[in-house]
Amino acid sequence: MARLQIDTVSKQFGADYAVREVSLDIADGEFLVLLGPSGCGKSTLLRMIAGLEQPSSGRILLDGNDITQEAPQRRDLAMVFQSYALYPHLTVAKNIGFPLRARRRPRAAIAARVAEVAATLELSQLLDRRPAALSGGQRQRVALARAMVRDPGAFLMDEPLSNLDAKLRSATRAELIALHRRLGATFLYVTHDQVEAMTMATRIALLNGGRIEQVGTPEELYDRPRTTFVAGFLGSPPMNLFPAQVLRREGELWARADGVEAALDITASTDDEETSVIAGIRPERLRIDDAATAVRGRVTMVENLGSEELVHVTAGSVELCVRAARPAGVRAGEDIGLSVHPSDIHLFEADSGLRLSWQQPEQLEIPVPDATAVSVA
Ligand SMILES: Nc1ncnc2c1ncn2[C@@H]1O[C@H](COP(=O)(O)OP(=O)(O)O)[C@@H](O)[C@H]1O
Ligand SMILES: [Mg+2]
Repeated sequence: MARLQIDTVSKQFGADYAVREVSLDIADGEFLVLLGPSGCGKSTLLRMIAGLEQPSSGRILLDGNDITQEAPQRRDLAMVFQSYALYPHLTVAKNIGFPLRARRRPRAAIAARVAEVAATLELSQLLDRRPAALSGGQRQRVALARAMVRDPGAFLMDEPLSNLDAKLRSATRAELIALHRRLGATFLYVTHDQVEAMTMATRIALLNGGRIEQVGTPEELYDRPRTTFVAGFLGSPPMNLFPAQVLRREGELWARADGVEAALDITASTDDEETSVIAGIRPERLRIDDAATAVRGRVTMVENLGSEELVHVTAGSVELCVRAARPAGVRAGEDIGLSVHPSDIHLFEADSGLRLSWQQPEQLEIPVPDATAVSVA
C-alpha cells in the first residue's frame, strides 16, 4: 500500500519559490506523471517526497502518516535518477543487492531476491558485469532493479529515460508500463516529455512555475485543457491559440477573429453580446476544404513529416498550423479554406487564460446559466 498525499507543499530557495502550494492526492497503485517544462519544480517536488529536500511549508503523508520529517531511508519509497547513480566498481548483482546489504539482510536472502528481480528485468545474464560493460538501457534496468529489490510501496523516478536514444526510450516506456501493471505499486514519475506522460500516466499533474496547472487523465488534459498553458504544452505541434470574439448571431454563438468565423457548439447563455476570448483549435482538427468558410487563408509553408504534412496557413492576422495526411495537396502561396467542427473549438478567458466554464461539451443539452457554478477542473 502506498497512498501519497502532498498537502500544500512549498519550497523556497532564498526569495524564489521552486514549488508553490502544491496539493496532490496520489492513490495506491497509480502511475502519476509530474510533467512540465525545465525549471518548473518537478525534481524539487520529487526530492521533497523522497526526503532529500525539506519543504519550506506543507506536509507529505504516506498511507496517512506524516513523513515530512522522516529520514529518506525510513520512507517506504525508492528513487530512480536520470543518471542511474550505479557504483562503477561493483558488479550488476552487487549494485542491485546494495539496498539489502545496507539493511544487513542475510546473504542467501539477498542472493535470492537479486536473482528474482534480475529475472523480472531480464538482467540474469548480466549479473557479473560491471556498469561500464553495459548499454544505457541495461544500466537503466539495473537502476530500476536496485529500486525494486526492496519491494517499496512507491517508486519515485526523475527523468529515468532521458539518457536513452529514441528507440530504446520507446521500448523502455513499454517495459515500465508492463512493470507497473505487474507490481501494482505506486509510480511517481517526473518528465518534461509529453509523450512519456501521455503514454504511461494514469494521471498527469502538469506544473508551471512551481504550481499545478491541471491534474487529470491524459485524455482530460488533452481534450479539455484547463488553461491556455496546458493547451499549448500538450500536442505536437501544440494547439493553435489566437485572440477572438465570441458573438451571438441568430441565437447561435460564433467565434470570430480576423480571418476566422466559426460556429460554436455552445448552448450556454452569456449575457454579453460579445466576449473577448482566446480560441484554440488542435492542428489535427482543422480540415483543408475548398468549400469551407470557417477559415479562409493562404498557405505559407508545407512541412513534410513523412506520414503527414504540416500546413502553415495565415488567415487575416491568425497563424494556423494544420496537420494533414500526406499529401495534403496544397502548395505555398495557395488560397485555401479550412473547416472545423464546432465542438473542436476550445475557448479560454482572454485575461486569465482559464477555460471558459460555460464550455461544457458533454453537457450540450443542458443550459448553464451561472458560469461560476461549473467547475472547469
Ligand atoms: N538547491 C537549489 N538552490 C537554489 N535553487 C534551486 C535549487 N534546486 C532547484 N532550484 C531552482 O528551483 C527551480 C525548480 O528546479 P527543479 O525542481 O530542478 O525543476 P525541474 O526539475 O522541473 O527542471 C529552478 O528555478 C531551480 O533553479
Ligand atoms: Mg528536474
